[in-house]
Amino acid sequence: MDMLSRQSAPMIVTGGAGFLGSHLCERLLDLDIPVLCIDSLITGSLANIEGLLADPRFQFRKMDVSDPPEFEDARGIFNLACPASPLHYQADPIRTTMTSVRGTFNLLEVARTCGVQLLQASTSEVYGDPAIHPQPESYRGKYPHQLSGGEQQRVGVARALAADPELLLMDEPFAAVDPITRDALQVELAYIHRSTAKTIVFVTHDVEEALRLATRIAIMHEGRIAQLGSPLDILEHPASEFVSDFVGHQGVGLKLLSVRKVSDRLRPGETADGDPLHLDTSLRDALSAMTMRLTDRLPVCDAEGRKIGVIALADLVR
Ligand SMILES: NC(=O)c1ccc[n+]([C@@H]2O[C@H](COP(=O)([O-])OP(=O)(O)OC[C@H]3O[C@@H](n4cnc5c(N)ncnc54)[C@H](O)[C@@H]3O)[C@@H](O)[C@H]2O)c1
Repeated sequence: MDMLSRQSAPMIVTGGAGFLGSHLCERLLDLDIPVLCIDSLITGSLANIEGLLADPRFQFRKMDVSDPPEFEDARGIFNLACPASPLHYQADPIRTTMTSVRGTFNLLEVARTCGVQLLQASTSEVYGDPAIHPQPESYRGKYPHQLSGGEQQRVGVARALAADPELLLMDEPFAAVDPITRDALQVELAYIHRSTAKTIVFVTHDVEEALRLATRIAIMHEGRIAQLGSPLDILEHPASEFVSDFVGHQGVGLKLLSVRKVSDRLRPGETADGDPLHLDTSLRDALSAMTMRLTDRLPVCDAEGRKIGVIALADLVR
């Protein structure tokens, strides 16, 4: 490839119709660099690049980066194709992984054949602790023994899942971590469970943890199953005194709220202002969100982030 034809080659911007990508496309055109914008429009929008479409130096191609790419030439690649918001990248983890792994692999191949550089966008959460803001960049390159307990637990879960087992046995996995990290790990595990539909046998002595994570709970007493049932069954109909003592008599109302979901009490079609809660949010977390936001109604969204109704304070005590 000679330099002259390389100079007419476009800069490829994947995710170019997204938040960062659309500004980058604009900036490159300002520098008189032709742009080939690639986007599946999963979270991005043509509205973001509306003003660029008439520019002859700008081309848009609707395409998923995890599909085989067909690019003749490029002067460089900015790979920004990946939903950035947790709501979006957690909605379909398989697609997110395909985008991040196969998409990146495809674009690295393009960079290699065209002999150009690739800039890869990422989020520092992949190697850091999402609870810490802003992220120090000091996590990168560490070995597991150099990580904190919570980080090691994440690595452990990732390693276990990497082999794609039918069934996962986790024996008190979060027992040794602090409450904040434990909370974050429980949320992550619940997402993993929902999205991979793997059977997870999870051993815990923490009733709240069991009620939060389980679809079915087996309460063991002296080597036998004292009760096997859904969290709601166990709270509402304990099979014996041992089970009701084990579950605890205090705060049963709050425990019930923590096993019931927003989806059980949704008011479909109604609207409210503010950041939406997910359908799978527990009523306890909904109550907490209402208290923090000083409101008695919150919008609710589905897995794709579409607002589909509201949850109201009065519905929590029905
Ligand atoms: N916005 C920030 O503050 C920020 C900070 C650090 C890192 N990043 C990273 O930068 C990248 C872009 O962030 P953003 O805020 O512009 O997000 P965004 O969701 O607005 O943009 C991502 C774009 O990628 C497109 N896309 C997603 N999957 C695709 C696929 N498989 N094929 C083709 N296109 C696809 C989406 O439609 C969207 O237009 C992400 O990797 C994000 O993690 C963003």
